[in-house]
Amino acid sequence: MKHDYSGTFKRVSLLPLTEEYIENLRLLRNRHRECFVFSGEISHDAQVSWYNNYLEKENDYVFSVFAENIWIGSVSIYNISKGIGEFGRLIIDKTLLKEKGIGLDTTICACDLAFNHMGITELTLQVYESNIPAHKTYLKAGFTETGRECDSNGKTLINMAIKKHF
Ligand SMILES: CC(C)(COP(=O)(O)OP(=O)(O)OC[C@H]1O[C@@H](n2cnc3c(N)ncnc32)[C@H](O)[C@@H]1OP(=O)(O)O)[C@@H](O)C(=O)NCCC(=O)NCCS
Repeated sequence: MKHDYSGTFKRVSLLPLTEEYIENLRLLRNRHRECFVFSGEISHDAQVSWYNNYLEKENDYVFSVFAENIWIGSVSIYNISKGIGEFGRLIIDKTLLKEKGIGLDTTICACDLAFNHMGITELTLQVYESNIPAHKTYLKAGFTETGRECDSNGKTLINMAIKKHF
């Protein structure tokens, strides 16, 4: 949906995703398909259509991630209900920025926005057990495991959550 949440934490700034970056996001996402539950290749037309639908959709907040004013990735908060939201679609272009921990800065920044500006008191997420960098990132940000399940291909997904500290 159209929104105007934004924030900064350490090396990253989060701003609403705008159309000029959806092609960057598509290309990056297609390079990391195996990390996501929907792992199909995304075409240019499908991305444009997804973005137009997204703008009309309630309850879905997509952010661009910038470091030193360069677009380096994206993250989302969505499906918010009764104060609980989902954190997801985290992706950082490691070819643009070799430094470690940019995903952690991004995750902390998104959690801060959720808890201190968006009225959210708990965030949940899913990560493939095989996705060590993402799993480590979430543990470092303070998410804890709440359960495990298998996807339709038998791959293990870890459910995680973090609560707002009042
Ligand atoms: C997840 C992601 C955002 C993390 O980016 P980042 O913060 O730059 O990641 P880092 O390089 O700092 O790696 C995070 C941790 O994983 C470790 N790591 C990275 N690759 C690894 C590997 N192949 N095996 C084991 N550990 C690995 C790093 O050493 C680091 O651990 P440390 O903090 O203890 O040193 C990035 O990898 C990404 O965009 N991945 C593709 C999309 C994705 O998986 N999204 C999440 C979907 S749930």
